Amino acid sequence: MNTSDANHLQGKRILLIIGGGIAAYKSLDLIRRLRERGAEVRVAMTQAAQEFVTPLSAGAIAGGHVYVDLFDWRTEFDIGHIRLARDTDLVVVAPATADLMAKMAGGHADDVASTVLLATDKPVLVAPAMNPHMWSNAATRRNLAQLVADGIAVVGPNAGEMAEQGEAGVGRMAEPLEIVAAVEARLVARHETAGSLSGRRGLVTAGPTHEPIDPVRYIANRSSGKQGFAIALAAAAAGADVTLVTGPVSLADPPAVTVIRVESAREMLAEVERALPVDVAVFAAAVADWRVAEPGAQKLKKGAGGTPKLDLIENPDILATVARCRSKRPPLVIGFAAETEHVIKNARAKLDRKGCDWIVANDVSPATGIIGGDRNSVHLVTRDSVESWPNEDKQTVAHKLIVRIAVTLAAAAK
Ligand code: C5P
Repeated sequence: MNTSDANHLQGKRILLIIGGGIAAYKSLDLIRRLRERGAEVRVAMTQAAQEFVTPLSAGAIAGGHVYVDLFDWRTEFDIGHIRLARDTDLVVVAPATADLMAKMAGGHADDVASTVLLATDKPVLVAPAMNPHMWSNAATRRNLAQLVADGIAVVGPNAGEMAEQGEAGVGRMAEPLEIVAAVEARLVARHETAGSLSGRRGLVTAGPTHEPIDPVRYIANRSSGKQGFAIALAAAAAGADVTLVTGPVSLADPPAVTVIRVESAREMLAEVERALPVDVAVFAAAVADWRVAEPGAQKLKKGAGGTPKLDLIENPDILATVARCRSKRPPLVIGFAAETEHVIKNARAKLDRKGCDWIVANDVSPATGIIGGDRNSVHLVTRDSVESWPNEDKQTVAHKLIVRIAVTLAAAAK
């Protein structure tokens, strides 16, 4: 199946749990969007959700019964809450209220929604929606961190006006199409991306750079190159013509990828510019910010002169150079951000500073073990949305990114 067909939800079963927030009205549109892509949608609603939209309207749009009561003998007889939890490909919670997230984090099961969420063995995606103060409250932050640690994916919330007059900030539920995109990214299997980037050219940077101090010493960092290599491989597997420009790493060339190995940031920039034009460029390299202004032509010696003084000068910013390039700017430019605090806030600032389209942000505080490790917890930050992906192996992160790239390029081509 081709990802650009935009019907890769065909035949997929989605269980939508509607929580009790004003954003519930958007969930009706979400049902419609999922169904028009061929998904089968079952709906469960919390008691509070029924104050905002009725089971009748949700059921009419979904084309089926809506599950609202754990003890309703008709629905229990019909499929039962355990089957409801299992007999699906994905569970989506939209809107996920602060209360529902707290229940999920705590493992409560006192209504049909929370019971199904506790009983399911399928992937879960939540679309939070709440007042900005509730979103930034320490209890919600704790619950969110717990959900992400439990493998639950998160889309949004977005910044903007709230339903309450005069209130604005982060807390609006992601738009239905953003939720659909997150559902797709979660569900599209690897083999389904085959061909989705055929005819496209892709460029990926990976690894650290080495900045010489003298002929034998250099400044480097701990980047392994694994994430960039996985992205290049996934893009090639999706049919793209891929150039991978990598700094020094101990990884084998991925099959069907043109690999160019470089040492320094300046060499990397030169090779990147040579590879343009491309349809998509992903900058996953951990480029050294500085280089030694005048590297020694010979090995620096210990001696009477004392410790050598190294003057540093700034390296070119490869991502910003390409993102701001007038003539050959790729239609989709994606940067990475390794942050140790305020991950999303800093990623948004980076998006503006570098002029790129998306930032894949990850928390690399030493406790996460991400640098050099095999797994990654990332947030996909675009101009108007944030998606937090659960902690996953780097191949899965790469695959999901390729799904998003393929869908975005296909939509832009229409
Ligand atoms: O500014 P910072 O290093 O955090 O930005 C990270 C992003 O910018 C990554 O995508 C990285 O590949 C890219 N970058 C670059 N050239 C640099 C520094 C960073 O391409 N000199």
